[in-house]
Order: sequence, then C-alpha cells, then structure tokens
Amino acid sequence: MRLVLPSLLALSACDADDELPRSSATEPTIAMDIPLPPVDTDTPTVPPETTTTTTTTTPPPPPPTTPVCETDICVVYGAAVPAVSAGIVAAAAVDPTFADFFAPVVAGGGEAALAASLTDFITDAYGCTTGAYTGASMEDAHAGMGITQQEYDDFITLIAGVLLGAGVPEDDVNLCFAPPLVDPAFSATIVGQ
Ligand code: HEM
Repeated sequence: MRLVLPSLLALSACDADDELPRSSATEPTIAMDIPLPPVDTDTPTVPPETTTTTTTTTPPPPPPTTPVCETDICVVYGAAVPAVSAGIVAAAAVDPTFADFFAPVVAGGGEAALAASLTDFITDAYGCTTGAYTGASMEDAHAGMGITQQEYDDFITLIAGVLLGAGVPEDDVNLCFAPPLVDPAFSATIVGQ
C-alpha cells in the first residue's frame, strides 16, 4: 500500500513559495518630507478673546425736556391785562431809568391811553386777540428814543416785577410772558430806533 501524502506536501510547499513576501527587513519604504512651519517657542500664547454680550434691561433715561408754558394765559390772565398794563405805565413813569422817556406822555395826560394801547398790543402779541392793536408799529412808536439793549432788558425786568406783584407765578412770568419779549427779533423793533 502506497501513501500519497508527501506529494501533497510538496505541492503545498511550492504554492507557498509562489506567494509574495509579506514583509522583510530589506523592504523599501516611502519617505515623505513635508516641511512643517517652525515652532516659535518665545512668543507667549495669547488665549483667544472672549466676547461678553451684556443685555441691558434698564431703559435709557428720557432726554432732558425744556420746560414750556403750560398755562392758558388768555384764560387765566386775560381779564387782568388792563390793570397790568396800567401798572407797567405807572411804574415806568416813576422809574428813574424810564421817567425821562415817559415824561411827555405824563405831561400830556396820555397815560391811560398808552395803557389801553399797551393792553391791545399785549393781547394781540400773546394770541388772545387779533387786530385789537391799531397803534403805530413798534419801530415808529419808539422812533428817535435811542433805547439801548440794557434799557430794554431793564424794562422787561420792570414788566416782570409788575406781573409778580399782581400775583402771577414766577413760572408763568418766565415761561409764558417773557419768551416773546426777549425774542431778539422783537426787541430789535424797539432797541436802537
Ligand atoms: C416790552 C417792550 C415794549 C413794548 C411791548 C412796548 C409797547 C409800546 C406800545 C404798544 C406803545 C404805544 C404805541 C402807540 O399807541 O402808538 C408804546 C409807546 C411807548 N413806549 Fe414802548 N414798549 C416797549 C418798550 C419800551 C421801552 C423799553 C421804552 C423806554 C425805555 C418804551 C417807551 C415808550 C414810550 C415813551 C411810548 C409812548 C410814545 C408816545 O406816545 O409818544 N417802550 N410802547
């Protein structure tokens, strides 16, 4: 009886030799020289900035408001204007600053007429009436008087004093009555004429 085992083994060995070598010490390697950036070890590493978002819940303060006249001066003071006008003329006539200006009016007995004229002018000026004043323009009424800005300012102070003396609150004097009188466009019709 003959065994065939060795020939099978030989065949098997031959097959093994035909296989490609899987690895060996002499196996060629692929070298990849990729240049890397130099590492700067002297520069300190700055951590990335952190952004903080703050949400404000408090509303911004309102803008400052300019106080304005809140009094309906025609309703509140309309009836008092004739007495106030008479008071202004009377005070001006005896005030050392204005006495010389008003002396001719006083001498001619024209104080009441001037007060009435002033009443009409004032009620028109503050919008309480329209067309009540029929006198001369301010330029013509004060022509040749050479009124200075200082005298004009002092006259405004005199008017404020009469209003305060008549019981008009300071806020109404400053916020309601004064603004149209201190308006340079208006004072220019009287000063320097
Ligand atoms: C708020 C400023 C002033 C106002 C609203 C004012 C208004 C008037 C008005 C309405 C008249 C009457 C005009 C007419 O009936 O034809 C008048 C006359 C007169 N004003 Fe003024 N005036 C002012 C300032 C002054 C000042 C500052 C002076 C003197 C310093 C002055 C002196 C006179 C005089 C003397 C007369 C009488 C003129 C005349 O009849 O011969 N006024 N003014």
